[in-house]
Amino acid sequence: MKRNVTAVALALLTLAASAKQGVDPEMDKFINDLMGRMTLKERIGQLNLGGVGTPKVVGSAKGLDKAVKEGLVSSIGGFDPVAAEDVQRFAEDSMRVFIPMITGLDVVHGYYTTFPIPLGSSSSWNLGLLEESARVAAREATAFGINWTFAPMVDISRDPRWGRVAEGAGEDPYLGSLVAQAMVRGYQGDDLSDGETIMACTKHLVLYGASEAGRDYNTVSMDDVTAYNYFLPTYKAAFDAGAGSGMTSFNVVNGVPTTGNRKVMTELLRDQWGFDGFIVSDANAIAEMIEHGVGGPQEVAEMAINAGTDMDMSASLYVACLEKSVAEGRVGEEVINTACRRVLEAKYKLGLLKNPWLYYKNKDKRKEIVLSPGNLDVARRLARESVVLLKNSDKVLPLKPVKKIAVVGPMGQERAELLGCWSYGMSADTMSTFVEALAREVGPDTEVVYSQGSNWTEQPAIYKQGGEHPSDSLLMQAVKDVADADLIIATVGEPAVWSGEAHNLTNPDLAEAQKKLLYAMKETGKPVVVALFSGRPLVIEDIDKDFSTILQAWHGGTMAAEALADILTGKEAPSGKLTSTWPRNVGQIPLYYNALRTGRPYSGFWATTKYIDSTNDPLYPFGYGLSYNEYKYDNLRADKLQAKGEGDRIRVTVDVTNLGSMPGKEIVQLYVNDPVAKISRPVMELKDFAKIELAPGETRQVSFDVTPDKLKYYDSELKYGWDAGEFNIFVGPDSRKVEKLAVKWDK
Ligand code: GLC
Repeated sequence: MKRNVTAVALALLTLAASAKQGVDPEMDKFINDLMGRMTLKERIGQLNLGGVGTPKVVGSAKGLDKAVKEGLVSSIGGFDPVAAEDVQRFAEDSMRVFIPMITGLDVVHGYYTTFPIPLGSSSSWNLGLLEESARVAAREATAFGINWTFAPMVDISRDPRWGRVAEGAGEDPYLGSLVAQAMVRGYQGDDLSDGETIMACTKHLVLYGASEAGRDYNTVSMDDVTAYNYFLPTYKAAFDAGAGSGMTSFNVVNGVPTTGNRKVMTELLRDQWGFDGFIVSDANAIAEMIEHGVGGPQEVAEMAINAGTDMDMSASLYVACLEKSVAEGRVGEEVINTACRRVLEAKYKLGLLKNPWLYYKNKDKRKEIVLSPGNLDVARRLARESVVLLKNSDKVLPLKPVKKIAVVGPMGQERAELLGCWSYGMSADTMSTFVEALAREVGPDTEVVYSQGSNWTEQPAIYKQGGEHPSDSLLMQAVKDVADADLIIATVGEPAVWSGEAHNLTNPDLAEAQKKLLYAMKETGKPVVVALFSGRPLVIEDIDKDFSTILQAWHGGTMAAEALADILTGKEAPSGKLTSTWPRNVGQIPLYYNALRTGRPYSGFWATTKYIDSTNDPLYPFGYGLSYNEYKYDNLRADKLQAKGEGDRIRVTVDVTNLGSMPGKEIVQLYVNDPVAKISRPVMELKDFAKIELAPGETRQVSFDVTPDKLKYYDSELKYGWDAGEFNIFVGPDSRKVEKLAVKWDK
């Protein structure tokens, strides 16, 4: 009898499912047949992501093989391709109804070929190159059986203390949305079942980047208007681009852990946004709901599945608890069937249900696929375009021919550290150090020497404290080693492990030991180029005051060293621009460009009163980055200053001239401000940009079409729309150096 009920329930569900818009009837039929052969326990098994860190060999793991055999493992982590394949083969041989695994991994900024950390690569503002990097990552990862990436991470963040600011695209929802869509397109391509594309996973749902005090996993308190206008757009953009899955976040929203938050997982993502893929919890996040204090194992499992979290990553609570929940009526069987269908649809779309070995088709070509010259070229180009020139006031750069260059600082000799967080290091032994890359670029007539000069830090509390020599002795040695150098390049910043998940800093500044090295180098009177390598904005007000030449090179990935050498030697002019505001000090945090004016606006663009001990102004504003060229902006104009209605548009044009002597790329930015609206609106918001290439002396007319969709916002009733009235349009090279046009738009 029970089975008949199930069959009837499935039949009804099928009718409902296929009535759903655009459901592929062939997929539907395939999945109905498959689910019709599965027991409730096996359908629950499809909601379980086994060990994210897949055991070496099936059988060695604690009970993994038993769970696989019983059909209780739907997905595995792809850390170890050999083990993942073992599990797949074991599943094929042992499962009563063989359902291939999805193999997932954090391919966040590359697999073998590693690209700059996302905060770095977003500074390129080069959407095409970002999409290309995701394509390369997908091609390399799928050659190792991985068909699901836990990326893109699209959390908006305004807090450099937060270790995971490294993983996102900065503070702006407009740019962050475009970056998210470029990554989803790159990962998923046009055909998820071609065996060389991977399913994307929008994360972390939602508002994770607003964790209080920059402490990972911490509480998030946010009003809906702020959430809808600033923090939610990037998630929606990733889903609108077709991301096939999403991942919950560790924080609460309005006091409810997101993993068990039906308002988020169902009412927002599915009812409002129409997302129809599947949602996986973050690692062990269902079990962490117990720590959040919302129930025991049984309760949190029920809360999560009833909220709309379809898959349990590595807490194993769904497989432990949900049969009982269904039997006792606290979870409807249709809830299990809906979640199971979503997972099976993903597997179908990935081509797995028809060909479980699709993602091993290139197994024999792995060597030629990974780290290919073409892949490395993408990495080099993206790393170059990610470098941000912060200061060059003595025009030391690009480097002029000299007899001897001394490189000092802990990063100069590193390889794997250049890869940054969420990297797997498989390319490390193929990488050049910065010293090696620079020596190649400057050529045989210039000697390049290296002296470490300091450890990362002497602060005992932080990771990767000093090496075998205390920094003082390294510094004294460096002073000797640079004695006859013509120029010093200081490679300073953070090792990879100081940013990324759970690696937060109360003071995102250069470590004292490295600062001492910098000032000792300054004492020599020689020109000093400060090359920063970090996973976050750094509060370096003192360095900015005391040094004339500063670049941010991030953790630039496999080709970081070559890319920085290319920029320093002028092979390419820097073009990167910051996607996060750099504060002067920790006290200013959170500091972001698109702030509200408040009732006591501070001068110009920065809202509200300043501190008695500091200005409100950032050290470097959002959108900021210099070049070796000077770009002249003039003749800002519009084809009209009055528009009417939804269908109208105002074409804004500015002339940009390259006054420099090198070809270069410039990111022209357009911002909009709504001075009078139903609610207080930001002093400005990025609404368009163009990255253009200019030959020396060339002038380009850059035009933007402003339409009402660039005026829209969520009001206090969360209605999305725009108001008739005046608007200020700003155009310039960053969010501060802008020219204004006042326009009027009637309804
Ligand atoms: C981590 C991270 C998440 C990642 C997952 C799997 O806890 O929060 O971003 O995708 O576990 O590694």
